[in-house]
Amino acid sequence: MASRYAEVYAGWQADPEGFWAEAAKAIDWISPPTRIFDADQGVYGRWFVDGICNTCFNAVDRHVAGGRADQPAVIYDSPITGRKRSWTYAELKDEVVALAAVLREQGVEQGDRVIVYMPMVPEALFAMLACARLGAVHSVVFGGFAARELATRIDDARPKLIVSASCGLEPGRVVAYKPLLDGAIDMAAHKVEACVILQRPEHPCDLIPGRDVDMGEAVAVAKKAGKTVECVALAATDPLYVLYTSGTTGQPKGVVRDNGGHMVALKWTMKNEFGIEPGEVFWAASDVGWVVGHSYIVYAPLLHGATTIVFEGKPVGTPDAGTFWRVIAEHGVSALFTAPTAFRAIKGQDPKGEFVRKYDLSRFRTLFLAGERADPETIKWAEAQLGVPVIDHWWQTETGYPISQNPVGLGQLPVKYGSPAVPMPGYDVRVLDDAGHEVPRGTLGNVVIKLPLPPGCLPTLWNADERFRSAYLNEFPGYYKTADAGYIDDDNYLFIMARTDDIINVAGHRLSTGAMEEVVAEHPDVAECAVVGMHDGMKGQIPLGFVVLNAGVAREQADIEKEVIALVRDKIGPVAAFKSVVTVKRLPKTRSGKILRGTMQKIADRETWSMPATIDDPAILDEIGSALQGKGIGG
Ligand code: COA
Ligand code: AMP
Repeated sequence: MASRYAEVYAGWQADPEGFWAEAAKAIDWISPPTRIFDADQGVYGRWFVDGICNTCFNAVDRHVAGGRADQPAVIYDSPITGRKRSWTYAELKDEVVALAAVLREQGVEQGDRVIVYMPMVPEALFAMLACARLGAVHSVVFGGFAARELATRIDDARPKLIVSASCGLEPGRVVAYKPLLDGAIDMAAHKVEACVILQRPEHPCDLIPGRDVDMGEAVAVAKKAGKTVECVALAATDPLYVLYTSGTTGQPKGVVRDNGGHMVALKWTMKNEFGIEPGEVFWAASDVGWVVGHSYIVYAPLLHGATTIVFEGKPVGTPDAGTFWRVIAEHGVSALFTAPTAFRAIKGQDPKGEFVRKYDLSRFRTLFLAGERADPETIKWAEAQLGVPVIDHWWQTETGYPISQNPVGLGQLPVKYGSPAVPMPGYDVRVLDDAGHEVPRGTLGNVVIKLPLPPGCLPTLWNADERFRSAYLNEFPGYYKTADAGYIDDDNYLFIMARTDDIINVAGHRLSTGAMEEVVAEHPDVAECAVVGMHDGMKGQIPLGFVVLNAGVAREQADIEKEVIALVRDKIGPVAAFKSVVTVKRLPKTRSGKILRGTMQKIADRETWSMPATIDDPAILDEIGSALQGKGIGG
């Protein structure tokens, strides 16, 4: 079948407002929008400005009323605990209503923020949907972040309440959440009034009387009392959530998502981009703490009336490299969405795909990869093992859904390895040089999106319009800066090659090296430091720290290096995967004092590098090379 992509994209180009007005019809509005886009509202305009709606209604109630009450909505599969359970849409509604009643009893109302700090358990979804029902703004914090990161988010979001759990479970390790939560609350200047805590049998925790509420008990009481909570009528432009993501400094950026545009856009992607029909099982093997989890574990599948899977495990080691195939076979998964790193991990343990052949994957149609560049080797291996299309797609926390993709729902286009294919409707993607001029096809440059961004993309940063402008809009007037570098080829295929800022991508997780540098610099013996992203066969990149010690420090370097590693784990969290530190005498700098991080990274990666013309003292690069060699890194 010929792809409809070109026709659909051209249709959007010819009439963007008409395109989104049509897409908006797939949503149940309390009062449908009559003004599709208002260029005068917000920083760059707002979508569906007079629409009134509720996201929880569209993700839950609508399906209960519309014939899907008995269809599974959520399947929880936890190889790490051995537990499995499924909730129909009717049961999901009961859980969400009861939890919404508990939150409301704790004083949560429309516009209040609620932080959700939870592992991959269904209660995390229930909490997000309960907030959506009340019009409260959720802010989910990934469980692999440490107390200080949580405290930073508490101070920025100023939540009324935090929903958390007694523990998370990593292979071979229980992560006690309560000490992290209590530590963060102590550290934060903003005072949180209440916490609703899920007690997990693997590691229950003590609750603080007067502050902490036992989620299980409170939900049971609410259910017994038959409490009802109706969906609150919200403006389409009201915020649904704030999700913090790494920025160019240690201060994370609070990406805002609204209600109306987000629903319209995500619903559109399920059929047209991902090729999924309502009633099918869609599995995003990510975490609710990331944008992939928000969009494709929670909201998009549920808005579409599909079944979503909450998987508490890893691609390998829980218990083996066949876990993904077991889940696909057992739950009849049509499409899996994960990060390439997961496939590199599986391939590393099962290079011949022997586990793949143990399971019945006959209902499995498509594999979607995103979160980092999908290397051609990994794609080809997955294609060969699974015999299904492997679709790379590119997007960001800020956009909330794919900017470019091979849209299988509209009809698959030819695959070009290393390319996340073509721009999706809504996105006018250009490549500019540093002066803001468009570059010829095939030339590397700054990848930008012509304003306005489509519905569902961030309208601004939480309480920080000016930071939104300076981080994304000011450098290339009229465009949104993605901070990715890449090029567009003659067939309009995009190639995303690198970041233009300090962000590195570790196992599909977005991390700021600047934030790590801020922590390393806190060590009392460290005079100066730099953190770069070094190539890693499995995780894509891992951080590598360089430290210069204060003059006169007589302690063992190895001890200091261990302390620096522990400091980053303690302050940012295990997710930083910060495990390599090299002590050097000096850092290479330009004559104007800028640290030459790019050259250091190339030396560590054994890439060819040329002497920067502006370098202050070329001999330092030899010192860096020797120090790395001493650690068995680079050459
Ligand atoms: N809570 C607490 N700790 C967590 C955590 C969580 N939710 N998630 C990860 N961590 C810890 C890990 O246990 C690990 O700790 P360790 O240093 O003690 O081993 C550390 O953070 C680094 O985690 P990660 O980078 O995920 O590495 P890993 O070795 O545990 O697993 C993969 C590697 C590839 C299997 C894993 O990253 C993965 O499944 N990735 C899938 C991609 C993905 O989910 N991407 C998200 C966007 S799509
Ligand atoms: P995040 O906001 O965590 O989703 O990270 C977004 C960043 O991850 C992008 O700006 C890219 O740098 C990178 N990224 C995500 N998906 C892809 C992809 N398919 N190809 C290349 N890079 C990607």
